[in-house]
Amino acid sequence: MQTGTTLTQFIIEEQRHIAGATGDFTALLNDLVTAIKTISNAVNKGALIGVMGALESQNVQGETQKKLDVITNDIMIRNNEWAGHLAGMASEEMDEVYAIPTRYPLGKYLLVFDPLDGSSNVDINISVGTIFSILRAPVPNRAAAMEDFLQPGVKQVCAGYALYGSSTMLVLTTGHGVNGFTLDRDIGEFILTHPDMTIPVDTKEFAINASNRRFWEAPVQRYVEECLAGKEGPRGKDFNMRWVASMVAEVHRILTRGGVFMYPRDTKDPSKPGKLRLLYEANPMGFVVEQAGGAVSTGYERIMDIQPEGLHQRVPVILGSKNEVETIVSYHKEV
Ligand code: AHG
Ligand code: MN
Ligand code: MN
Ligand code: MN
Repeated sequence: MQTGTTLTQFIIEEQRHIAGATGDFTALLNDLVTAIKTISNAVNKGALIGVMGALESQNVQGETQKKLDVITNDIMIRNNEWAGHLAGMASEEMDEVYAIPTRYPLGKYLLVFDPLDGSSNVDINISVGTIFSILRAPVPNRAAAMEDFLQPGVKQVCAGYALYGSSTMLVLTTGHGVNGFTLDRDIGEFILTHPDMTIPVDTKEFAINASNRRFWEAPVQRYVEECLAGKEGPRGKDFNMRWVASMVAEVHRILTRGGVFMYPRDTKDPSKPGKLRLLYEANPMGFVVEQAGGAVSTGYERIMDIQPEGLHQRVPVILGSKNEVETIVSYHKEV
């Protein structure tokens, strides 16, 4: 589709590719876009409207919640609960599945989201995002149970993210490539600016939180050491390193210029097999990255094939330029 197309037109044309889709999917995405514009506005106004800082509360992940974690979660709920497209919602910030209030009709989709990704960055004015994933409800028009959400990533109908950076962007896939839209604040519309985004298969840039180095498993230790060895090392090239600590920003960088991102399995806390959440982060980003020609793995298996066992399940994540991810996966096979 042509650069300059509005997101609304794009969604309507996209819906024609989705088997069995009626106007519901278009309307659902429209509500989601309204939520994202509202969040963009709140993040952008920041301290002017008193939304910065932390709360006393912790979420089910054991993280201290930022005010904006809760505000953005609420914005997602309020904009998406009323229209009758959803059978339920699940979020990083809610212990249990969100039941659509009985005053509203139920629908055939499930919405899963991380309302504010990278929230540790919000007080320091660095890019944050929203990650979303849309699944079909196994039984339409019935209040969704927790088990209904436990679908492997390959079942996603649509996934994407909003990036609240120097401009606000929306990047999404419905399984036919990846397209990026930039919010034109003057007219209040997302405009197609990045059609058919693809990730270069090779890269010289990696992203990992190096403060965890002593906890990494041997294959990741080996990979990073080889990158750091540069031209003289076994990889024969100099690597660059980045770590924003907002997964949305890292994935967006990789979609734009390639790279590899790792939050690998480590020995820091044996009860957690990784930091990132399968349903809210790894699967939606997995769908986007694979659709852009990249690869996404735990190091041991393809993320999107994992059968989830819990709403808040965590997984190791290694994603990005295909050849690089395959190299890292091959190191995992050797041990
Ligand atoms: P969230 O803000 O939704 O809890 O996610 C934060 C995630 C992810 O965005 C980022 O890649 C990672 O946590 C950063 O972790 P470190 O603080 O350990 O670097
Ligand atoms: Mn969090
Ligand atoms: Mn997150
Ligand atoms: Mn979050």
